[in-house]
Amino acid sequence: MPEAKEPIGVVGVGWVGLVTAACFAELGHDVWARDIDHEKVARLTRGEVPIHEPGLPELVARNRERLHFTTEMAPVLEHARLLFCCVDTPPTYSGDADLSRVEAVVSELADPDDHALVMKSTVPVGTGASIKRRLPGLHYVSNPEFLKEGSAIEDFLHPDRVVIGADSDSEAFADRVEALYAPLGAPVVRTDVASAEMIKLASNAFLATKISFINEIANVCEEVGADVAEVARGMGLDERIGPHFLRAGAGYGGSCFPKDVQALKQLAGNSGYHFQLLTAVIDVNELQKRRLVGKLQKHLGSLVGKEVALLGIAFKPNTDDVREATSLVLAGRLQSEGATVRAYDPVARERARPLLANAKLCDSALEALEGADAAVLVTEWQEFRELDWEGTVKRVMRRPIIVDGRNFLDRDALRAAGFVYEGVGR
Ligand code: UGA
Repeated sequence: MPEAKEPIGVVGVGWVGLVTAACFAELGHDVWARDIDHEKVARLTRGEVPIHEPGLPELVARNRERLHFTTEMAPVLEHARLLFCCVDTPPTYSGDADLSRVEAVVSELADPDDHALVMKSTVPVGTGASIKRRLPGLHYVSNPEFLKEGSAIEDFLHPDRVVIGADSDSEAFADRVEALYAPLGAPVVRTDVASAEMIKLASNAFLATKISFINEIANVCEEVGADVAEVARGMGLDERIGPHFLRAGAGYGGSCFPKDVQALKQLAGNSGYHFQLLTAVIDVNELQKRRLVGKLQKHLGSLVGKEVALLGIAFKPNTDDVREATSLVLAGRLQSEGATVRAYDPVARERARPLLANAKLCDSALEALEGADAAVLVTEWQEFRELDWEGTVKRVMRRPIIVDGRNFLDRDALRAAGFVYEGVGR
């Protein structure tokens, strides 16, 4: 008989928790997943997936027998020894991470017994050490996640690396965590807890830095007549630089980069070190989100009374997540300049409704474009490429002006069709 697989506990069934639970179930583990939200647990128990992540509903459906959703901690502690902490750690007003949900999980482990807390939530460096000071018997493993929204399942099952941080008293549990990932065949980085925590923050901060860097190159390209897409292609072939995360655009958003860059800057500041580079990364990103307004003004003059179609609301395609999305900053800015905003997104409309109170939310791209003085592409959803730009769109827009915030559309074809086209850095 094949050896039974280690049962897994997941605490906090948000996006990270549900992807983690479903993927471990896919790898053959029984998973006890706990969330305090009764309605969410009821929906999951019925087989409904409350978040938008490609492939996740299929994975949950395929592994229903191995996935046990509950609102109680007791069954999780009873069945699993490895408890993956996946609760969220949103930023506070001061920029520090709010650890209250992590604290709540820790308080339920008052008698740690023979369990290990495996931290997947993104936490400041030093969190593991401080939890262990308060609960000296607790076994603690840091196992940061590097999943991207929209490709989380692929990222989980085919990771670039797996990072596992543990101090000497928890090595045996760290071995058990490592064994879970063995079937994935990825390089494993075994290290101490603090270094594992730092790998996560430093990785996100570095990627955000790459984006702000290429965005500044793009802004200079506009002044000197170079094309940032060509520049990125040429730079990216240098193995030391690499081709990824060199897409210039309207700034990074989402629930991770803005929060983690701020958190690392704050962490450094709290320890007496002024992280100059990250201050610039954040400032550049904020400015980049607003730059598209100037491009509209260049062609429309004053925006008072103008109708602007926003194509895309989500912070990136294939997700309904609108946290820190460029669209929200842009919509506010356009409205304060006197424009009317008509926004469309294939999946993020409902999520965005409370945040875009003064904008008209449209049911299709064409509805947003009808009568518009200009269109701004904010999120690179595939369906925007497939619009009949030369025909229907050109006919329904009041003026054929397109600001492409992601360099996503066919510039040459649009110009040939008589559009005024503005990209980023081209
Ligand atoms: C990011 C990281 O990529 C993941 O590795 C990490 O696990 C995750 O944060 C997290 O900490 O949970 P995510 O926020 O889902 O993942 O999205 P990304 O695909 O990284 O994109 C972030 C933002 O950067 C988006 O707004 C995107 O439009 C922007 N971006 C990305 C660019 O502007 N240019 C690029 O070249 C790449």
